[in-house]
Amino acid sequence: MDGRCVDMPTEPPESDFRSRIRLAAYPTLELGGVVWAYLGEGAPPALPRFEWTGLRDDQRVVTRTWQECNWLQALEGGIDSMHASTLHTTLTPDTGRAGLSGLWTVPVPLSDEVEVTDYGHAYASIRPMPGGRKWVKVYHYVMPCHTFFPFELGGDGETLQPIVNGHMFVPMDDENTMVYNWIGKYGDDALTGSEREILEWSRGRAPGEVDDRHRKRRNRDVDWLIDRAVQKSETYSGIDGINNQDHAVQESMGPIVDRSKETLGTTDAAVIATRRILLARLTRAAPGEDPPGVAPTYYRLRAIERVVDAGVDWRTELRDLYDRPADGTGADG
Ligand SMILES: [Fe+2]
Repeated sequence: MDGRCVDMPTEPPESDFRSRIRLAAYPTLELGGVVWAYLGEGAPPALPRFEWTGLRDDQRVVTRTWQECNWLQALEGGIDSMHASTLHTTLTPDTGRAGLSGLWTVPVPLSDEVEVTDYGHAYASIRPMPGGRKWVKVYHYVMPCHTFFPFELGGDGETLQPIVNGHMFVPMDDENTMVYNWIGKYGDDALTGSEREILEWSRGRAPGEVDDRHRKRRNRDVDWLIDRAVQKSETYSGIDGINNQDHAVQESMGPIVDRSKETLGTTDAAVIATRRILLARLTRAAPGEDPPGVAPTYYRLRAIERVVDAGVDWRTELRDLYDRPADGTGADG
């Protein structure tokens, strides 16, 4: 288990050669339907402990998809909220294709407000709603590679479903990423079979959508199977599956996008914050110091969304929902 060579039949019995060689070996852990490995030096840090890893198996779906671009490009797509109001939308209620509708058809502008934390950041995408209300979606970025995003509100803005989502963007090399996708149902109930089926289908992860190497059937070699007729009349992108739409945009930028040519705007606040805290950690990391995302402060985070009055400050009035107190008050589940 620790990489030691236990036997070398090709060596004479008196040889101790086996004691002098070692394979690279890493401690692993099975948790939340995922095998985790610690690749650093010394003893591993505290075990990962997200809300979703603590759910029962029947409350959770975990899958993985190979994304053919740099991990930061993929991560930033996962952190951006703005794109969902266009890229993932349907154009008509008269379509059987997956996509966002209802609340999502409320026109932007929106604003992004970021709260930098010790684990990364929490940020709220705020969209104005009719009647002086606003739609607040609170996301989390837990360094270095975890995103949580809410999927709680029905299209009417009132119905709450206890569903949270997230990704882990794990680099395979500079130009390829393995994206671990999870969906969790908090509370007591299990995810029903049809919930699993519909949620996975809508994200473009139905059976047959990825091969045994986790590569998408809708990949860049086939232009993500974009259908221009569908794009004209049914969905904004013409590509089936919400995550396929994300991948199409992020992969078509090239494997590593040239950020020196970017112009970031107001709703890129969370992306800007992500780059700042990543850059800060590169230059200030101290040997032996736990990196961000290890301390227990992320244990009770949840991505949430609510439609609230315009005067509500999400950082105070919604905090017990998105950074749940340890005593179980708030929307504990
Ligand atoms: Fe997206």
